[in-house]
Amino acid sequence: MPVTIVLGGQWGDEGKGKITDALAASADLVVRPNGSTNAGHTVVTDDGVYKLHVIPSGILYPHCTCVIGAGVAVSPPDLMREISALQERHVRLGQLYVSDRAQVIMPYHPLLDLYEERRRGAAGIGTTLRGNGPAFTDKVARRGIRVADLLPGAEEELRRKLEILLPEKNTLFVHLYHEQPLDLDDLLREAREWGKALAPYVVATEVLVQDAIASGKHVIVETAQGTMLDLDYGTYPYVTSSPPTAAGACQGAGIAPTQVDRVVGVFKAYTTRVGAGPFPSELTDEIGALLRERGHEYGTTTGRPRRVGWFDAVAARYTARLNGMTAAALTKLDMLDPLPEIRVCVGYRLGNQVLNAPPARLDLYLRVEPIYEVLPGWQSDTSAVTSFSDLPLAARRYVERLEELIGVPITMIGIGPARRQIVWREARALA
Ligand code: IMP
Repeated sequence: MPVTIVLGGQWGDEGKGKITDALAASADLVVRPNGSTNAGHTVVTDDGVYKLHVIPSGILYPHCTCVIGAGVAVSPPDLMREISALQERHVRLGQLYVSDRAQVIMPYHPLLDLYEERRRGAAGIGTTLRGNGPAFTDKVARRGIRVADLLPGAEEELRRKLEILLPEKNTLFVHLYHEQPLDLDDLLREAREWGKALAPYVVATEVLVQDAIASGKHVIVETAQGTMLDLDYGTYPYVTSSPPTAAGACQGAGIAPTQVDRVVGVFKAYTTRVGAGPFPSELTDEIGALLRERGHEYGTTTGRPRRVGWFDAVAARYTARLNGMTAAALTKLDMLDPLPEIRVCVGYRLGNQVLNAPPARLDLYLRVEPIYEVLPGWQSDTSAVTSFSDLPLAARRYVERLEELIGVPITMIGIGPARRQIVWREARALA
């Protein structure tokens, strides 16, 4: 079967863009199943650095068809800006399609995100303020606007929907947030422009994807965010609003679980997270600061400094099992190069109990103490290494120990941002 899901095993920003880019060299189709412009994927090619948000990383290969699936919330102006930015680079791009069933981030969604975060103050989620949560809230409440609703011919239907929707949003704007209301005609005008701009890209992507699978094409599903940000299994409520799991990837891409061949979990060699929420292995000392600077740990979408910590093997094993990972990719191993010793969180201590999986209760998760295993560092430059056996012994031991703890073979190791800086473990090759 030709379907591979690439997903994040931590709290997002694991380097999925780089791994998808590497796998997409031999793929026909790359599908984005979830998230919105809240996500940020960085890909470095010989032509330079590309920061992608909602467009799948495969777009940088002319042979790749890229699909924004039904599970995504699309901000049309952000998507058009992303397309223009790519076109301005004058590189040959793959073909792009957008699902007619994808949700639309309407102008009121980022405003609701911002006003609600402000209202919550210190109790805020630390969202990316892109309107992601409010858009998926409307989807689940069955009042979302979908891409099909923007297209030429659907104007009257859209007006009817917004006539019901907008008074509710404006009541919140005026009476809860003490802000200005939005105007219906302005919204409709904007939506019409968006519809015209998007129309050439819009198709029934689930049909396109199924046709590709039926004809034996190699499909990659590139999820956004990480499993620890999942609504059900992540650090709720400090999570995102669409599922970054393998199950969510199937749903959002329009692919059945029985059609999936491989699930590649991407893990950074340490841990980062942006926004608020539990992070037992967080480093607030100079090692954390060193990793943040070396790893350029600042959000692709928001520029916010990321919180940094040791590898959390409790969370990693949990996400590996939940997603049925068949392989793991470890990124940014080279960031650990200068450290004399490296810690790995192998359990959570809660009072006199040891937990081997994340607790559901947030107050307990915030209280757990990490149990660390200490491994020797290698204190040498790994960024030019080309095979696993060339890595320093301590680096190999680190990778092998993580592999044992996660319970999944680590088949790809990132040792720098460039396309060539991946060590493939041939015996366990994915392709
Ligand atoms: P939202 O997705 O903007 O609603 O933000 C909810 C939480 O998910 C916040 O903690 C964000 O920082 C986090 N988040 C959203 N997108 C990403 C991402 O692409 N990488 C890492 N964290 C993310």
